[in-house]
Amino acid sequence: MCGIIGYLGKEPALPFLLRGLKSLEYRGYDSVGVALVEEEKFISFRKKGKIRDLEQDLTDFSSNSCCGIGHTRWATHGVPSDRNAHPHFDCQEKVALVHNGIVENYQSLRAGLSLEGHCFRSDTDSEVIAHLLEGEGDPLERIFNMMKRVEGSYALCIIFQEEPDVLYGVRQLSPLILGVGEDSHFLASDLPAFLEDTRRVVFLEDGEVVRVSPAGYTIYSSDGIKKDKPVVTVPWDPVRAEKGGFKHFMLKEIHEQPQVLEETLMGRINLLDKRVCLEEIAGWDGNFERITIVACGTANYAGLLGKIFLEKLARIPVEVDYASEFRYRDPLIGENNLVIAISQSGETADTLAAVRLAKEKGARVLAICNVMGSTLTQIADAVIYTRAGIEIGVASTKAFLCQLAVLLLLALYFAEARGIEDEQLEREKILEELVSLPRQIREILEKEEIFQDLAREFYLLKDFLYLGRGVFYPLALEGALKLKEISYIHAEGLPAGEMKHGPIALIEPDVASVVLVGSGETRSKVIGNLEEIKARQGKVIAVSWVGDKELEKKADRIIFLPPTLEILSPFLAIVPLQLFAYYVALEKGCDVDQPRNLAKSVTVE
Ligand code: G6P
Repeated sequence: MCGIIGYLGKEPALPFLLRGLKSLEYRGYDSVGVALVEEEKFISFRKKGKIRDLEQDLTDFSSNSCCGIGHTRWATHGVPSDRNAHPHFDCQEKVALVHNGIVENYQSLRAGLSLEGHCFRSDTDSEVIAHLLEGEGDPLERIFNMMKRVEGSYALCIIFQEEPDVLYGVRQLSPLILGVGEDSHFLASDLPAFLEDTRRVVFLEDGEVVRVSPAGYTIYSSDGIKKDKPVVTVPWDPVRAEKGGFKHFMLKEIHEQPQVLEETLMGRINLLDKRVCLEEIAGWDGNFERITIVACGTANYAGLLGKIFLEKLARIPVEVDYASEFRYRDPLIGENNLVIAISQSGETADTLAAVRLAKEKGARVLAICNVMGSTLTQIADAVIYTRAGIEIGVASTKAFLCQLAVLLLLALYFAEARGIEDEQLEREKILEELVSLPRQIREILEKEEIFQDLAREFYLLKDFLYLGRGVFYPLALEGALKLKEISYIHAEGLPAGEMKHGPIALIEPDVASVVLVGSGETRSKVIGNLEEIKARQGKVIAVSWVGDKELEKKADRIIFLPPTLEILSPFLAIVPLQLFAYYVALEKGCDVDQPRNLAKSVTVE
């Protein structure tokens, strides 16, 4: 997956394109390129590497062109190289385009086009689209004809040399948003690309084409019919897409967690009558035969915690599936089921495919999502937004925390809707403690240097195990994922009780275990696991509650958390795991915000 941008306005396009690409770089960063129209010719720059490398090449270049397109790439077809970098052109260099998505039938299209005499200059699937658009006649008609032939997903920004002041955008199963400024229009994969210039946007839908000219824009459906679509003003503050004094977006986003948690809870809890209000699903009675949660990566681990919340509080059976597995196992799902799709971006291809299948089978779909207008929010029956603000760091942090908050609220909401008895007033206690969590997270963040010291001590080790039970098991998975993603250290999250069934064989002096010790009924068992590791000379970092003297003596290092209810403890325990991964990556000199081989939202299956 990649990030694309297009600009048409009254000012030179290049600075807008470069700035926009920088904020899209989280989507892919192995190569970059731009094309501008000048005197009815294209000038293009394409490069393997990051945007800052391209900027260096452009130091002595200036252009007054007010129309251009740009691309930042995460390779799928063809290695990262200058020749595979976008924009791509037709044979005569009369059509320039940038593409995000995958052309599934590109091999047959390429073979056919080659036979017709087209000359290919890259190994990408994207280039076939440029050749399909080559020729004479109305560019719009050529786009519609191209859409009939291309199978797969594509968001495109296209310029035709014969219309040098017109920019086209096409959306089919990959995101594309139109930004409507005073004297300018933007097309981009995601909002941060133009948020500094306008917050007025049109969320394009699959099959739509937009034609932008100095006179304004027109949107068409794929059969050529003009469409009126609302212009939405997005509430996001552009400052949020900047690092704001932090060294990395990831660190900034870790620090934003108290605030975004407050925002996610805001207006959704009534502390006077101890009730949860979720207007987004008003009237839903929660009487589902079963709930299936589908998600990928970090969102999937949030889903595992959602299962615990929903089963414990609302007493509804829940299964959690990787979206990529759900789709291919012919799932037993029907009208009486609720499918909850969790996704920060709302654009993850596997999650979208799972949701489409669930809808085909008649299930109701609820999205828990962070990005307004994303594809997931368009296809779900209802959406509860996580209000985490823009998340740029590839390793998800604040979105995860907000996903947990929404899942907990949902469980409490369904519990009440279903009339679940609550004799121990646990619901009330949870709500009271929930609102204290932002303050408690701030307390952890104030002691950040602890994690820096810990990282210095442990960053040279090559293997980490993360162990936990109950609510701590999904956290163990997420803690291990964070470490892998940004520091490239092998790490595995395991249910602590499973240690003795195999993984304990891995323990030796240079293997570290992060043991998450709760206060609930499995506490003594987890401490038993910790002792088994120590008995085999493994290193142990324990995470427990302030004042846990017993554990202090047993572990090599201990991280203390402020006290809270067991069910809420993941909201606090995740923060040290994020900070530890961050500082280990920093010690190792890794690129924290743009880890190798990864991308923030994976829009290919
Ligand atoms: C990618 C990212 C992960 C993320 C996952 C799901 O793999 O690298 O950090 O958790 O996608 O993304 P989503 O946007 O659907 O939450």
